[in-house]
Amino acid sequence: HVLLVFAKEDSQSNGFCWACEKANFRCSVARTPESALECFMDKQHDLVIIDHRHSRHFDAEALCRVGAGSMCDTVFIVCPQRFVENSNMMACYNELLQLEHGEVRAQVKLRAGNAIFMALDQSQEAIEITSEDQVIQYVNPAYESIMGYQPGELLGKEIIEVPKSEKNKPDLLETINSCIRKGKEWQGIYYAKKKNGDSVQQNVKITPVIGQGGSQRRHSSMARIHSMTIEAPITKVINIINAAQESSPMPVAEALDRVLEILRTTELYSPQLGTKDEDPHTNDLVGGLMTDGLRRLSGNEYIFSTKQPHHIPSHLTTPLSLNDIPPRIAQTMENEDSWDFDIFNLEAATMKRPLTFLGLKIFSRFGVCEFLNCPEATLRSWLQVIEANYHSTNSYHNSSHAADVLHATAYFLCKERVKQSLDPIDEVAALIAATVHDVDHPGRTNSFLCNAGSELAILYNDTAVLESHHAALAFQITTRDDKCNIFKNMERNEYRTLRQAIIDMVLATEMTKHFEHVNKFVNSINKPLAAGNGDEESVKSILTSPENRILVKRMLIKCADISNPCRPQELCIEWAGRISEEYFAQTDEEKRQGLPVVMPVFDRNTCSIPKSQISFIDYFITDMFDAWDAFADLPNLMQHLDNNFKYWKGLDERKLHSLRPHPE
Ligand SMILES: *[C@@H]1O[C@H](CO)[C@@H](O)[C@H](O)[C@H]1NC(C)=O
Ligand SMILES: *[C@@H]1O[C@H](CO)[C@@H](O)[C@H](O)[C@H]1NC(C)=O
Repeated sequence: HVLLVFAKEDSQSNGFCWACEKANFRCSVARTPESALECFMDKQHDLVIIDHRHSRHFDAEALCRVGAGSMCDTVFIVCPQRFVENSNMMACYNELLQLEHGEVRAQVKLRAGNAIFMALDQSQEAIEITSEDQVIQYVNPAYESIMGYQPGELLGKEIIEVPKSEKNKPDLLETINSCIRKGKEWQGIYYAKKKNGDSVQQNVKITPVIGQGGSQRRHSSMARIHSMTIEAPITKVINIINAAQESSPMPVAEALDRVLEILRTTELYSPQLGTKDEDPHTNDLVGGLMTDGLRRLSGNEYIFSTKQPHHIPSHLTTPLSLNDIPPRIAQTMENEDSWDFDIFNLEAATMKRPLTFLGLKIFSRFGVCEFLNCPEATLRSWLQVIEANYHSTNSYHNSSHAADVLHATAYFLCKERVKQSLDPIDEVAALIAATVHDVDHPGRTNSFLCNAGSELAILYNDTAVLESHHAALAFQITTRDDKCNIFKNMERNEYRTLRQAIIDMVLATEMTKHFEHVNKFVNSINKPLAAGNGDEESVKSILTSPENRILVKRMLIKCADISNPCRPQELCIEWAGRISEEYFAQTDEEKRQGLPVVMPVFDRNTCSIPKSQISFIDYFITDMFDAWDAFADLPNLMQHLDNNFKYWKGLDERKLHSLRPHPE
């Protein structure tokens, strides 16, 4: 039962109210010290939270003293003046849970304390409790009568002062003490000396008390008053475990120690690869895609082929509007809303400008210009300048890949579950993010750029180098010139929200965070959806919370980005050929420049493409698409994935290294 003492209703008090409701705590609110006291005397709450951010409202500490004087077991929490306001409901909820597991539980235990001592007093067994420095704190009446002491006579004495029997082996005390120091229990025969000098043989059990009472790790609620700032969730988790540890038996506490050790490391979501007997393809992919290289600078500057962002090449004839798209091109885009749409046809028909044309069609289908309040001409220029900044010389990361990811994104956005979860602004963000997500990609991996000490790696501190660059450059070239600034007419706040969402999605395509994104999605969305009773309200609240919408968007663009293995077989094979070629070219260059070879299996002389595809699917694709399919329902993709996997397996079983059984 919680009492909130807040002079005024504000977002902070509302946050706590809501959190109480969510946690199923009863909650009362008082606005003045008098009503607080009255309410408190009546109900004796377990937890009182007093708003002390504005000291002029009331004297919180006086209120605490009165409350504490009433001899109850309540935990008082005062939000001090420097309390970091956080009305975020989840933050309040976490705070409450932490209080419940910490201070409130401890108080409940203390309440049982009296009863426990009553029971000890009645026990027939002799019981003695000492402090860490061996001062006797308690003996029960049975102890006193067996040993022949007066009630209370032993209290406060040091054990050393109590006479010992000579019948014990000389080293027995040392044995016992060293056992206790290690936190272990000792049990055995011990001769105790009565007050009158007689020795009695006793079967003794000595138990060290670790944690509560033993070591002084318990925080008082007063200490807490000064430390109550909203902390990071991981700190809260660690605190909750710490609190639980204090009252847990040894084996549990030890297990929790190991848990804490794991939690304190940052790589929470990446599985640990046993490096030795793992498949070399997986190892290379992980090394190549999920690390930032060896973080060893070779002194070799890697120079970008494009140092200046491209402007719209003037020689390209551009369509005037959607209606002016040449019929031949329009025809290749007729089924662009189907998953099996052939992007390579479009690539050929548009003379390597698939992104501009497909972008025009898809953005108009989703009403992006209306949403952004921008003329179609601006969108057209924007698509052209973005496409011009993709390197047509890359065999994989050119604008065809961007168009492909845009296509997959648009397809996913039409799925029922996704539509339920996302707002129009999320859809627009997703389409823009897909369009720009690899802009100015140099055709080399992050690890390569870091190893080569490239300008970009230096600029971005070897972290998420490419993804940071794609996001930053996209906004630079968009806002540099009004002609292509699709954001120009947006209201400032809406622009900020949109920009944030685009950046978040582009950064989510970085593979070092792959498992983090997938696991968060599964834990926060798929599991709660599967566990819920399926009623409309609860589904909606899972799908539309701001945190979860971010997770859906990340998962969406990640799946779109690496959906090649879920495409129809011919398309899947073509993409596999292109990515392999790009990796081969990187290995060639690494050898030429004497750089570390990041992915040695991608050597054009020895590589088995089927094996590399199998590893990629096993390691990155299967779990992710299982989760995405469970959410968005994509049976056709899963069927393609299955076919393609079997196709690569078939080649591999025949020991073929090429893309096709009979390479031309
Ligand atoms: C992308 O690269 C492939 C070679 O792998 C090439 O055939 C294609 O035309 C390129 N696409 C664009 C838009 O540059
Ligand atoms: C790189 O690291 C430096 C030094 O820690 C820091 O000042 C700078 O902001 C970082 N840059 C980026 C892009 O993270």
